[in-house]
Amino acid sequence: MPEDLDELTAEALAAVAQCGGEKALEALRVRYLGRKGLLTARLKNLGALPADQRPAAGQRINLAKSRLLAAIDDRRQSLERESLDAQLREESLDVSLPGRRRPGGGLHPVTLTLERITRIFTTAGYEVAEGPEIEDEYHNFEALNIPANHPARAMHDTFYIAPGTVLRTHTSPVQVHVMERGEPPFRMICPGRVYRCDSDLTHTPMFHQVEGLLVDREVSMADMKGTIVGFLRAFFEEQVEVRFRPSYFPFTEPSAEVDMSCVACGGPAQAKAKACRVCGQTGWLEVMGSGMVHPRVLEMSGVDPSQFNGFAFGLGVERLAMLRYQVGDLRLFFDNDARFLSQFN
Ligand code: DAH
Repeated sequence: MPEDLDELTAEALAAVAQCGGEKALEALRVRYLGRKGLLTARLKNLGALPADQRPAAGQRINLAKSRLLAAIDDRRQSLERESLDAQLREESLDVSLPGRRRPGGGLHPVTLTLERITRIFTTAGYEVAEGPEIEDEYHNFEALNIPANHPARAMHDTFYIAPGTVLRTHTSPVQVHVMERGEPPFRMICPGRVYRCDSDLTHTPMFHQVEGLLVDREVSMADMKGTIVGFLRAFFEEQVEVRFRPSYFPFTEPSAEVDMSCVACGGPAQAKAKACRVCGQTGWLEVMGSGMVHPRVLEMSGVDPSQFNGFAFGLGVERLAMLRYQVGDLRLFFDNDARFLSQFN
């Protein structure tokens, strides 16, 4: 350790200038300026000097102390800046990197189809009605002109959940609720779940239907045809051909089954050549039931059949979804396999 103050100070300043870390810097401060530091000791030793030399010597030591202190402060600040710079360099954010995507959810194809059907009819001025899925036999059958022992009941594979109470087998009972609740004219659709005790390749115990009902004065079968053709062409965004085949439903008279030219092969002209499996090479697809509402049905629900008449139709939603999205197996809608469902996101 140099005896000379200037040398000691120079040594200290050099050490500070070379110091590479904040810890080492603090150690230097303690070594020279701490309570037992080298410079501090000099001040303490002042008393050993002759009195006339003390003030000048004291001043020199104090000057050395404050130079050293300032140098340590400077060095500390530049060390801090360096470490901040290094940190910023390391943690830098590359704003050009692509973000991390979260897989997006989507609506179920049956929901998409229901929404699509609903949008088309509400645009045409139809209201959306709802009815209970747990239904009494009266609304599910009697009020639709299907009395007990009527052979049509056998076709419905009904889930009875209590005497006189069923899971609705179709959405047609909502027609009855709507007519009971209000006054004609009526223009409504009812989308919803229906249940049948039936399960195989092409049937599931729960599926979806959309019921349509229009009741007004002097409604004709031509109105019904125009409505249904217009709906199918809007739904499939194609000029599909539509034919109405005489049929039978207890709640409509006359009744018609609605067939549409096959959207897979293009219709009867191409079906055979293309060996179309979607339509069984007939070129036609059965897509809904329809008819003019039976006067008995109007009457039972409180609508005067001498003043009002109307048409109704009922369609299967899964069937339309399969045709629109080219899904070959009904069960895919109910398996909840994300690989299938994610295709509709
Ligand atoms: N309810 C019938 C069914 O589930 C479908 C149906 C046919 C509804 C003709 C109607 C209709 O409104 O007019 O099979």
